[in-house]
Amino acid sequence: MRPNGIIIAIDGPAGVGKSTVGKLVAGRLGYSFISTGKMYRALAWKALESGLSLEDDEKLVALAGAVKWEFPRGSGPEADVSLDGRRLDLELSEERVSKASSGIARLAGVRLFMLGMQREAGVSGGVVMEGRDIGTNVFPDAELKVYLDASPEARAERRSGQLRAQGLEADYATILDFIIKRDAQDSGRVNNPLRKAEDAHYMDSTAMPRDRVVDAIVELYKVSHPG
Ligand code: DC
Repeated sequence: MRPNGIIIAIDGPAGVGKSTVGKLVAGRLGYSFISTGKMYRALAWKALESGLSLEDDEKLVALAGAVKWEFPRGSGPEADVSLDGRRLDLELSEERVSKASSGIARLAGVRLFMLGMQREAGVSGGVVMEGRDIGTNVFPDAELKVYLDASPEARAERRSGQLRAQGLEADYATILDFIIKRDAQDSGRVNNPLRKAEDAHYMDSTAMPRDRVVDAIVELYKVSHPG
């Protein structure tokens, strides 16, 4: 038994809504929410800011070890990432950061560093953690695992809608191309590629509204952990 509750692992491809859904599930259960993608994004952002090579595993690990990481908990369901006291938010959504994060996530040393932080952040339970390898690698013993999927077209459509809603430009074809490339990189890499854990519940959200996905995960939680 974990002191604070179970671990809910949500994995799946880029842009499928893992963070949105994960935050809502965490809010409903009074759990913390941790996006491991944000950790890779934060390191990628720092590397870009520092002008570091995105191929240099050793230097990237040294950089990760040199900065002060914080994941403030307790102020709501979401744990934000702060590096050296700077809270990172919108800069992590920049396209250059998305691309760089997927690139550095291929590297074994970077992944090992992240694994340590992720296990530490989640081990006491009471957490919804999302990423690519949470159910397969970070917490293979997570009590509830969900693999959230949707067609690349549906994901590109949603992403375009989000950007337009923010008043930003969105070219559907470019976004679709970017999503397909990132899927290929995240699933095709050697180290902890994106995979559905054997014991994960598969959910195709292509035609499913967000709230139904949230309800379905909360239902799975209740069924597996009554009372
Ligand atoms: O979920 P996201 O798009 O914010 O993640 C950014 C990148 O980080 C993603 O392209 C792959 C990588 N990542 C990973 O390899 N393993 C995780 N557990 C989470 C993210």
